[in-house]
Amino acid sequence: MYTIPTHADTSSKEYKDNKRNYEGILERHRSIMEVVMRGGPKQAIEKHRSRAKLLARERIDLLIDPGTPFLELSTLAAYGQYDDSFPGAGIVTGIGVIHGRESVIIANDATVKGGTYVKETIRKHIRAQEIAMQNKLPCVYMVDSGGVFLPNQAEVFPDRDDFGRIFYNQARLSAEGCPQIALVMGSCTAGGAYIPAMSDETIIVKNQGTIFIGGPPLVKAATGEVVTPEELGGAEVHTTRSGVADHFAENDQHAISICRSIFETLQPASKQPLDIKQSEEPQYDPAGLPGIIQADPKKQTDPYEIIARLTDGSRFHEFKTRYATTLVTGFARIMGYPVGIIANNGVLFAESSLKGTHFIQLCNFRKVPILFLQNITGFMVGKVYENAGLARDGAKLVHAVANASVPKITIITGGSYGAGNYAMAGRAFDPHFLFMWPGARISVMGGQQAAMVLAQVKTDQLEAKGIKPDPREIEEMKNTILEKYEREGSAYFSSSRLWDDGIIEPIQTRQVVALTIATSMNKPYGEPRSGVYRM
Ligand code: COA
Repeated sequence: MYTIPTHADTSSKEYKDNKRNYEGILERHRSIMEVVMRGGPKQAIEKHRSRAKLLARERIDLLIDPGTPFLELSTLAAYGQYDDSFPGAGIVTGIGVIHGRESVIIANDATVKGGTYVKETIRKHIRAQEIAMQNKLPCVYMVDSGGVFLPNQAEVFPDRDDFGRIFYNQARLSAEGCPQIALVMGSCTAGGAYIPAMSDETIIVKNQGTIFIGGPPLVKAATGEVVTPEELGGAEVHTTRSGVADHFAENDQHAISICRSIFETLQPASKQPLDIKQSEEPQYDPAGLPGIIQADPKKQTDPYEIIARLTDGSRFHEFKTRYATTLVTGFARIMGYPVGIIANNGVLFAESSLKGTHFIQLCNFRKVPILFLQNITGFMVGKVYENAGLARDGAKLVHAVANASVPKITIITGGSYGAGNYAMAGRAFDPHFLFMWPGARISVMGGQQAAMVLAQVKTDQLEAKGIKPDPREIEEMKNTILEKYEREGSAYFSSSRLWDDGIIEPIQTRQVVALTIATSMNKPYGEPRSGVYRM
């Protein structure tokens, strides 16, 4: 492998402008994260603490092995929706190490509307379970929730991927050998009662945790019986009489120590062997990334400059350096883990698709995880390219991405548009993890292009009817589309709706990639396979 030469001139105006622009983006990002990570309103936090309960992130900190990182997912779920009354969608999810075992942790934040579930809460919960399934991880549920957010029942109850899917997933995960462990640290009402009930092992906290299918008000309305929550389904009842819970805990801290003790009884995961080396810092400091990310979206950010700031020693063994140069492919190490990198360097052509397909096959056969660095406007358009069979060769890359037998990790560093999103392992292609950088953008095409396409369609329609288009109306229509694409194309709009696993700062990328590869090793990689390639 060779060290990538960098051409970034840190004293140039372009570098300084880029840096200033991206630092503004990062400043805004950090202030949004800071607010969201506080959780619910001040009064709700005070009420929570007055009950001697720990906050969701404090519970997680105590649960994971001291000094190990927690890879939090989708922190900005529901951001900008519901008048921002559901920070983090009222749930904290992520991957942490418990007794040396990477595990999915799902913790309700009871300070956010009693830990109730809106659509994004469910999507976030289910996404964490999907990650557990794809990587064969145990799941720990720290339950403290009023169940469904009742006013929104139509968006959270009936569909396939709604509330019920959580319990279906628990049954399937348990059957797959992914231990399911629940800590009942608050309310578990109605459907929510099934989280501890469906778990392999359940812990409940004294005078704090309750599990019931129908709470006291419902019982009174239905049968007239008057009963306290504790009598109906408290820790005493469930650990002595009903057997719904297995372990009685004195408080949050005790429940967490019992959970850690359960982990000591698990068999170690059978891991995918990978050739892991000592981690090494890149030769070019990742802190320099803001200076090389182009502030002008019309200018191409040099993927070599990004790769040089992500890989160990800034080293890269490039594959087909001189061929189809709008797609950069090659092998490297990130914090000691081997990785095959596929990065955009312009639009995709037929030959870039073939190069990418070939490279994915190399990764499949060598069992090396693939890192997609997405910054793509799409495939080349035009008669010459279509007539030469662009769709046929593009399809080969899409096939190879869909059927890759090694884990895919996607980072959207810049734009993610159209079919380029598919060919570069967008969400529909089931990457193990997908993160966005704060300045990244995602939409079916750029706002300008969409506005132009629709203006052309409208003009053609009117002209076909013999009406002369009013330029002012067309301009207004274009502006409406532009404004809509501007808003809906942002990384925050995406993350709010769980189209990704979270927004990460460029400087965090090395650690996030390393953590995701370490996580992926819990499930041995499959054998190479492919569908029918159109030749
Ligand atoms: N749907 C909608 N909103 C709910 C809710 C639900 N299921 N459960 C609680 N909330 C809201 C409350 O209205 C309150 O909102 P506000 O802050 O805007 O006033 C907030 O969540 C906190 O509730 P509160 O009762 O003040 O907090 P608490 O900590 O004392 O109790 C619960 C939390 C969850 C134990 C309690 O609210 C409860 O029992 N809720 C009903 C649970 C239920 O029956 N769920 C069935 C769903 S299938």
